[in-house]
Amino acid sequence: MKKQIAVLPGDGIGAEVAESAISVLKVVSEKFGHEFEFKKGLIGGCAIDEYGTPLPDETLTICRESDAILLGAVGGPKWDGNPSELRPEKGLLTLRKSLDLFANLRPVTVFESLAEASTLKFEVVNGVDLMIVRELTGGLYFGRPSERIGENKDAVVDTLHYTRKEIERIVQKGFELAQVRRKKLTSVDKANVLESSRMWREVVEEIAPKFPDVEYDHRLVDDAAMQLIRNPKQFDVIVTENLFGDILSDEASMMTGSLGMLPSASLSADGPGLYEPVHGSAPDIAGQGKANPLAMILSSAMMLKYSFNLSEEASAIESAVQNVLNEGYRTQDIADSHSPVISTTEMTEKVKAALTE
Ligand code: NAI
Ligand code: MG
Repeated sequence: MKKQIAVLPGDGIGAEVAESAISVLKVVSEKFGHEFEFKKGLIGGCAIDEYGTPLPDETLTICRESDAILLGAVGGPKWDGNPSELRPEKGLLTLRKSLDLFANLRPVTVFESLAEASTLKFEVVNGVDLMIVRELTGGLYFGRPSERIGENKDAVVDTLHYTRKEIERIVQKGFELAQVRRKKLTSVDKANVLESSRMWREVVEEIAPKFPDVEYDHRLVDDAAMQLIRNPKQFDVIVTENLFGDILSDEASMMTGSLGMLPSASLSADGPGLYEPVHGSAPDIAGQGKANPLAMILSSAMMLKYSFNLSEEASAIESAVQNVLNEGYRTQDIADSHSPVISTTEMTEKVKAALTE
């Protein structure tokens, strides 16, 4: 299979972990006989320095012409004082908007050898393998009006706005993802209070018959928040609107113990998907070879699976990561008392070696 991959390393450790992902993907392409062409582009602070904008047209063009996009992270203290149009995050927001990336996928996989690192009990988190699918472009974060109102501006309004189409496409994505996983979908809403949630439920009921092999249910968001901590293993795919998804995905992510282990994807209806670690540019450890590359490497595995339909190749990366962790190799963020700490490149080499075994 021949694919073009846009690589936007960004700032700080973004650049370091992007290199790790590229070198792992090169091993995958050799092993499985694919041709991956990598095209690099600037985004974030480095793009501001070079072009005076966080998302140069050239970068957007590379992304549009590629089959998928890998992104490191953007931002850093150097640009913190910039006006909002010239902030690194603006590049990421514009990219998401330009490519209509409405579905944010946040898998939470707890590797057995790291389950001890979670603040939850080992028995509760060991074996957790769930995915939160969050609507990313609508809802309370984008609805208008959003402003202070009244004569004295002492009242305030935010608007939760969704069109039926927006709900349909995210619910459809939730079912599709459940179908290629363990065929279980939980739709999360607040239908006892919100009209938007009642429409959400209607849409789920309308789409469900298209996926007869997927078992589904509805949960109220407060119950879902509780169940995630009480018994997370009951979940496979959770689909929900923007605000609920923001909160639940951060809650769920802490089961894994470290930000350095969390991949993500953002998908559109038919354009290229964007794959990036959940963590930021980590200026405190940038340039020191301390970054954990696994979140980025696992993001590239998601790319193989969800953009290229290469499930076997994706599983090969995931197994390689699992083996390396089982052997006791740790970067500093996931270190424990009995394992030696290794660097970003050493960890990357271990994963590559495990892939070729
Ligand atoms: P951060 O995720 O960069 O770092 C938080 C803490 O986790 C730091 O102590 C860092 O050293 C550690 N950490 C993060 N990733 C790690 C990894 N792979 N391996 C080992 N340790 C890791 O979040 P923070 O500090 O809030 O933000 C730093 C910069 O990153 C800011 O400019 C922020 O705007 C930006 N940021 C960018 C994001 C993106 O590009 N998607 C997301 C979050 C923050
Ligand atoms: Mg959040």
